Order: sequence, then C-alpha cells, then structure tokens
Amino acid sequence: MYLCICSAVSENKVIELIQSGCSNFNEISKATGLCAECGQCTFRAKRECERLFAEFGEHSQNSSQVLAIQTINNLHTPHTKSECA
Ligand code: FES
Repeated sequence: MYLCICSAVSENKVIELIQSGCSNFNEISKATGLCAECGQCTFRAKRECERLFAEFGEHSQNSSQVLAIQTINNLHTPHTKSECA
C-alpha cells in the first residue's frame, strides 16, 4: 500500500527505513520525499507512520517477521532517494 503517490512511498518502504534507523516522520520524509509534493497524503501518512513506528520500531517484537516480508518486497521497490543510516 502506498502512503504517498507523488513520491511512490510504500508502507513497506517506511517499515524498512524505521528498522534501518529512521526515528521520526521528518527523517522518513527526508529520505523518501514522503509528503513533499502535493501534500494531500500528509494527514494519513503521518498517522500511518505513527502506527508503524509503534508496531515496527526499535522496541517492537515484529522485527524478524518484517525482515522476511521486506526481503520479498524489496525485489520490487526501487531505491531512488537517500536512505536513513
Ligand atoms: S500524495 Fe504525497 S505528496 Fe502528493
């Protein structure tokens, strides 16, 4: 599912960035371009990012499950913007 059509940012991409070290919405936006164009996605994207930080952030127990999903999804998701380190 895409959170931002303009920048083609998927939920799986946000999960990947959370697990690679992004710790807030602004970092996700900077890394992907999320909400940086028309802005129509902003309310929903922020709400979904909050949910994903809670579910898949540093203290989540779902991390290993997500890694398996990301491995599959990354085969189909181009990386065109800078990533969080
Ligand atoms: S849909 Fe996200 S900036 Fe346009």
